[in-house]
Amino acid sequence: MSDFTHGFWSIFISVLTVLSIVGTWIFLKSQTTRKLAPGEKPELMEHTWDGDLRDLNNPLPRWWLGLFYGTLVFALVYLALWPGLGNFPGLLKWTQLGEYEAEVQAAEAKFQPVYAAFMQQDIPTVAASPDARAIGRNLFLTYCSQCHGSNAEGATGYPNLTDGDWLYGGDPDAIRATLTDGRSGIMPAMGEALGAQGTKEVTHYVMSLSGRTHDAALADAGRPKFAENCAACHMPDGTGMQAMGAPNLTDKVWLYGGSEGAIIESIAKGRNGVMPGIAQTLGTTSNKEAKLHLLTAYVYSLSQQTK
Ligand code: HEC
Ligand code: HEC
Repeated sequence: MSDFTHGFWSIFISVLTVLSIVGTWIFLKSQTTRKLAPGEKPELMEHTWDGDLRDLNNPLPRWWLGLFYGTLVFALVYLALWPGLGNFPGLLKWTQLGEYEAEVQAAEAKFQPVYAAFMQQDIPTVAASPDARAIGRNLFLTYCSQCHGSNAEGATGYPNLTDGDWLYGGDPDAIRATLTDGRSGIMPAMGEALGAQGTKEVTHYVMSLSGRTHDAALADAGRPKFAENCAACHMPDGTGMQAMGAPNLTDKVWLYGGSEGAIIESIAKGRNGVMPGIAQTLGTTSNKEAKLHLLTAYVYSLSQQTK
């Protein structure tokens, strides 16, 4: 309960709550302490319903009164122990967050031996274990699916991790490095340097590399421009360079799209895909090393199945 904008409301609510409980107590007491004197008959109250239903002022049954006082005692004990009175956290200092964290810790402790066993094994061995893949998949759904999709097949700008085609490499070490430090693909904007016509020519040359329908004259004019401006990162034959994260332009896999318009946009405006490192993806969760290990194995396993 820390969402009051002003300390006054916390006190106001606390006082009101306690006053109503105490007030109810006093009221109840004042209305129920009168006992019938020996020999006194209960008074007939004024009203009678349905012919014979009479209202007498007998004392309330003890069990009922007891119950009523019980609820009041319960309320006071509850408010003393748990949050409920304004900002007062309660003597037990219970919080939803605390309970959640305790549960997470218990779960992590339970997983610890399982994790420890997998930590002894290398990535291909872990990737071959269905149990490890199941844990990896859960971790992936929690930490990665918002960008790469729940089936890891990616989307425009977010690479497909199941296709065996890699920007940065698909061996265990490369995947682990990608997850650990993150990646940032830097494709510089070249629209100004190339001009509109130059951009179009290079685009058609790029389209020719993967066998797309293209204009042969434009592609021919683009070839030397590619060698001059692009080959340093995408290699002279256009097959890309994993050290730079520069995609292979000769295959059918496109990160941003292989249409003329998409390629022109990639070249003219540049691209800058950012893969966050584990500091961001896994945050400060416990067993971080083990999770990294299992995620690496899971990602590794994805492309192994399709190879
Ligand atoms: C905020 C979005 C985002 C999240 C979250 C994210 N990624 Fe990525 N990931 C990307 C982007 C974007 C790239 C491509 C970077 C580039 O264009 O250079 C990428 C690249 C990768 C690559 C490299 C693919 C290749 O072809 O080399 C791997 C592997 C990967 N991510 C795995 C993961 C895993 C595992 C997680 C969860 C721990 C994760 N990613 C979480 C956005 C994300
Ligand atoms: C400094 C290195 C560098 C240079 C120079 C460079 N690129 Fe790139 N290019 C990249 C990187 C890295 C990416 C991936 C960007 C990302 O991951 O967000 C990329 C992406 C692309 C894409 C998108 C591919 C896809 O799968 O969607 C195209 C097309 C492309 N480059 C063409 C070119 C052309 C044509 C040139 C020359 C005019 C060029 N690049 C120059 C590094 C470079």
